[in-house]
Amino acid sequence: MRYVTVASCGSCLPSHVLSNHDLERFLETTHEWIHSRTGINERRIAGANEDNLHLSLEASRDALRGSSLRGEDIDLTIVATTTCDRMVPALACSVQRELGTRGPAFDINAACSGFTYAVVVALHLMRGGIASRALVVGTETLTRIIDWTDRSTCVLFGDGAGAVILEPCDRGEGILSYSLGAWGEGDKLIFAEGGGARMMASLSGNLDGREESMATYLPFLSHAWNDRYPYLQMDGREVYKFAVRKLCETVEDLCRQAAVNLGEVRLIVPHQANYRIIQAAAQRLGIPLECFHLNLDRFANTSAASIPIALEEAVRWGKISPGDLVILVGFGAGLTWGGILIRWTGCK
Ligand SMILES: CC(C)(COP(=O)(O)OP(=O)(O)OC[C@H]1O[C@@H](n2cnc3c(N)ncnc32)[C@H](O)[C@@H]1OP(=O)(O)O)[C@@H](O)C(=O)NCCC(=O)NCCS
Repeated sequence: MRYVTVASCGSCLPSHVLSNHDLERFLETTHEWIHSRTGINERRIAGANEDNLHLSLEASRDALRGSSLRGEDIDLTIVATTTCDRMVPALACSVQRELGTRGPAFDINAACSGFTYAVVVALHLMRGGIASRALVVGTETLTRIIDWTDRSTCVLFGDGAGAVILEPCDRGEGILSYSLGAWGEGDKLIFAEGGGARMMASLSGNLDGREESMATYLPFLSHAWNDRYPYLQMDGREVYKFAVRKLCETVEDLCRQAAVNLGEVRLIVPHQANYRIIQAAAQRLGIPLECFHLNLDRFANTSAASIPIALEEAVRWGKISPGDLVILVGFGAGLTWGGILIRWTGCK
């Protein structure tokens, strides 16, 4: 069996900061409410020219700079995102074009678990001999799909991208175990209608009063774009309970599979959804909160991007050394969850 490790990390965050106090100016909310319920103080908002391609490329170039590799040395490109710039083609293909990577390129949507899913897919394509080095990106411009008048969701999210390069490594190092799952019954707990084929984009154009005659031949036109609420919707309380439970179960599963004690794990890099979720999970797992790397106070929930952004920061801050055991763990819409346990081998 081939072993695979994280050889380099990169990230890109938009420069525009939107603080809780900024939100108070146009939303019926307070910094105190947001901070006490979530731990979030501010988030980054992508500007008009900062689409997911831009963020992905900057994060990937950052990761490439940290390795001795160039684009053409990579033969697999996977992008995890919930907010793809375009429905077609996959963002990974545009990333490939710009960076000159080779081999297969495709996107994965597993929401906030997307990055962990993408790493596991890359791992198996590498183990199967289909690729030798992979670029895995998590990127989101979630602030474009949320309703900025809905205070129960819009305060939670931010934009950004993170990337890693995966390389083969020695036996017993790198990724030691992983755990992925989904509970499809929960597909109603977080969702957004906009941007999908069910909600015809063509109807947002001017049909010059031809709707009725066209609908005779094209029955799907009755699903009018304007009749539906396109933005992200969420049952916060249910998601909260699920997140705490799955975070704990996934961490325990990873340790069991790799035959290590949780106490031996140096750092957990969780999906950055909510401080209270992490706090409750730490309590349930019986470990100190300091075992988790948190940056959601500054960047909020960036979905598929949050784990690689936090991982890059933890590495840059010197919180992970070669030989350390590190867990990446995510949970989110789907509902999905995913985790990876890594024996760290060194990285920029
Ligand atoms: C969303 C979340 C922060 C709400 O916290 P909560 O303590 O459960 O709050 P509640 O839903 O009970 O709402 C309490 C009140 O605050 C109000 N409220 C909601 N958003 C508010 C805001 N931004 N500012 C002020 N008040 C707000 C609600 O309207 C409600 O008022 P009411 O009691 O008069 O109806 C919490 O449920 C959560 O974090 N869930 C997980 C969400 C998540 O992380 N999703 C992504 C996972 S990948």
